[in-house]
Amino acid sequence: MELSRVSPLLSRLVAAPRLLLRRRFTQNSTLFLLHNSNNKSKVILLLKHKQSKALATKAAAETRTPTNMVKVIRVYEHGGPEVLKWEDVEIGEPGEGEIRVRNKAIGLNFIDVYYRKGVYKPAEMPFTPGMEAVGEVVAVGPGLTGRTVGDIVAYAGGAMGSYAEEQILPANKVVPVPPSIDPVIAASIMLKGMTAQFLLRRCFKVEPGHTVLIQAAAGGVGSLLCQWANALGATVIGTVSTKEKAAQAKDDGCHHVILYKEEDFVARVNEITSGNGVDVVYDSVGKDTLQGSLACLKLRGYMVSFGQSSGTPDPVPLSALAPKSLFLTRPSLMQYTVTRDELLETAGEVFTSIASGILKVRVNHTYPLSRAAQSHTDLESRKTSGSVVLIP
Ligand SMILES: NC(=O)c1ccc[n+]([C@@H]2O[C@H](COP(=O)([O-])OP(=O)(O)OC[C@H]3O[C@@H](n4cnc5c(N)ncnc54)[C@H](OP(=O)(O)O)[C@@H]3O)[C@@H](O)[C@H]2O)c1
Repeated sequence: MELSRVSPLLSRLVAAPRLLLRRRFTQNSTLFLLHNSNNKSKVILLLKHKQSKALATKAAAETRTPTNMVKVIRVYEHGGPEVLKWEDVEIGEPGEGEIRVRNKAIGLNFIDVYYRKGVYKPAEMPFTPGMEAVGEVVAVGPGLTGRTVGDIVAYAGGAMGSYAEEQILPANKVVPVPPSIDPVIAASIMLKGMTAQFLLRRCFKVEPGHTVLIQAAAGGVGSLLCQWANALGATVIGTVSTKEKAAQAKDDGCHHVILYKEEDFVARVNEITSGNGVDVVYDSVGKDTLQGSLACLKLRGYMVSFGQSSGTPDPVPLSALAPKSLFLTRPSLMQYTVTRDELLETAGEVFTSIASGILKVRVNHTYPLSRAAQSHTDLESRKTSGSVVLIP
């Protein structure tokens, strides 16, 4: 058989998944046995040595199974930042309804620390942490429409595993990133910005005339909450630990900044509000602040406890809410982006707020992904402010 007639056949065959190629030599010729891994289709070719050499070289190049080995961070046991291991893993191909994304930038979030420590339990061990990233679609699963290779997409929440050079994602959990927004900016704001959106616009709807208290006002979420609450017409009070963070919070639209490691924040809020208290507290610090936050609320005020960077807060008995008829909620972004429409609307409002200048995104720190452990150390020791991004 002529090589020119064999090659197209081979090309079709090598496109089949996991094609194996075996050779056996006779005196003057080579016997090729090509078959699928399921052994359903087999082809035998008997070729002269000269032809076979050329064909074997071509086939070897074409049948190289794409390994999709990528570098990721993996956690085998809960613990300190040292449990974040930098490893090679095989990620395979996207299945139905899935896409493979090459990450350009990955957002660091405090929730990654909770999973690493075991405060929140991952579905399996070992696991790859990370809840948000922006990347380029490099493969789409069979039959998938609406996403194409080359799309720049963002994702936050949902499947964990963004501390990776590449990852497989459910296509319905990603959103397209507008071309005007830099991927690093988008990665730094997806989870934090969508959190700010649902907290201020849906969980408790902030309106002009409201007074809000934002704990950890210079943090990733805190910085965005301050800017957005100010733009909504609220009087914004923020707490921070250092003078540098206070300057950032002021710049982000905080009308009053309290250094809560030096001052009694309850007394200060009382003073600022002339004893009336605030309409809502957004508290992500948890253990160290929750009781004080409750004390800062006005009659029928809203306590929004959405995080625990200082530790899990002590339980609040229902009776503690009675004297001021308070509302208490412990919301999570996942429950505010359940449907595709909710996800698109929430992300869309974040992107629009960046474009309109309501949100200035502070990417104050970037680390190579391989140094994720250092980023965790710095986040936990309160050395960071604004957003932190990991670059693969
Ligand atoms: N419920 C949700 O859906 C949701 C979604 C996103 C984020 N969150 C929560 O929002 C919070 C903020 O997340 P983020 O990623 O933007 O982090 P972050 O606010 O940038 O970092 C945490 C900040 O908390 C403050 N803090 C106070 N006590 C602390 C302590 N003992 N240890 C460490 N930090 C302490 C620090 O600010 P100071 O130095 O100024 O005190 C620190 O910079 C986290 O609790 C996170 O879990 C919740």
